[in-house]
Amino acid sequence: MGKELKHIAIIMDGNGRWAKKRALPRNMGHRKGAEQIWKIVKHANSKQIEYLTVYAFSTENWQRPKEEVDYLMNLPIEFFNRYEKEFASENVCVKIIGNREPLSQVLIDKIHEIETKTASNQGIQLNIAFNYGAKEEIITALKKIVTNNQPITVEQVEENLYTKGIPPVDLLIRTSGEYRISNFLLWQIAYSELYFTDVYWPDFDEKELDKALVEYAKRERRFGGLS
Ligand code: FPP
Repeated sequence: MGKELKHIAIIMDGNGRWAKKRALPRNMGHRKGAEQIWKIVKHANSKQIEYLTVYAFSTENWQRPKEEVDYLMNLPIEFFNRYEKEFASENVCVKIIGNREPLSQVLIDKIHEIETKTASNQGIQLNIAFNYGAKEEIITALKKIVTNNQPITVEQVEENLYTKGIPPVDLLIRTSGEYRISNFLLWQIAYSELYFTDVYWPDFDEKELDKALVEYAKRERRFGGLS
């Protein structure tokens, strides 16, 4: 790849509409969406992408009906059980970013277990944003800095974000024809290239990722400078 591409972030939108189109319950869209995550992780890993961050549950998603929230709370557990062997064989390191406090103890324990088991894997790092909100992330970081009497600098803020040590997002993808950021990685996407596609997340496969990579390769990144 000509231009550096270390970090891809994805807003996985359109699960509900994918299901509706097939007269399936919404949760079946989320289920298929979870399977797509693994396909995309594997493909990105084969392309030597170092970080993939996916938006699985936002701090605003609690407003959804209880049945859907319960389903989404259980999906990571199923996902980790289903793909644990593959994380090892493909060398995938898994991290969860977001506020864990309101999550069930079962889920918190499972997150801890999968992070520990995959911590030394040297392939792609999959960050799953779960109960994540960028505004909350930034406020929490600022509070920590102030409490520690540290200067408020770019470096200090970055040290205190969930994404500490992870490079900024190079390419942000949003599926399903919506053109919004939805409180995702607001700090980390300051200079990201943005890619929007009409494809619903459960249909976003390896070929769709390749299309995004071709588009990214055409972009000229100036980071506020001149070409
Ligand atoms: C947005 O589509 C999607 C979500 C709010 C949830 C995304 C979750 C997954 C893809 C599965 C997560 C899996 C793991 C392993 C953590 P939507 O429901 O808003 O779709 P719609 O806009 O068509 O209704």
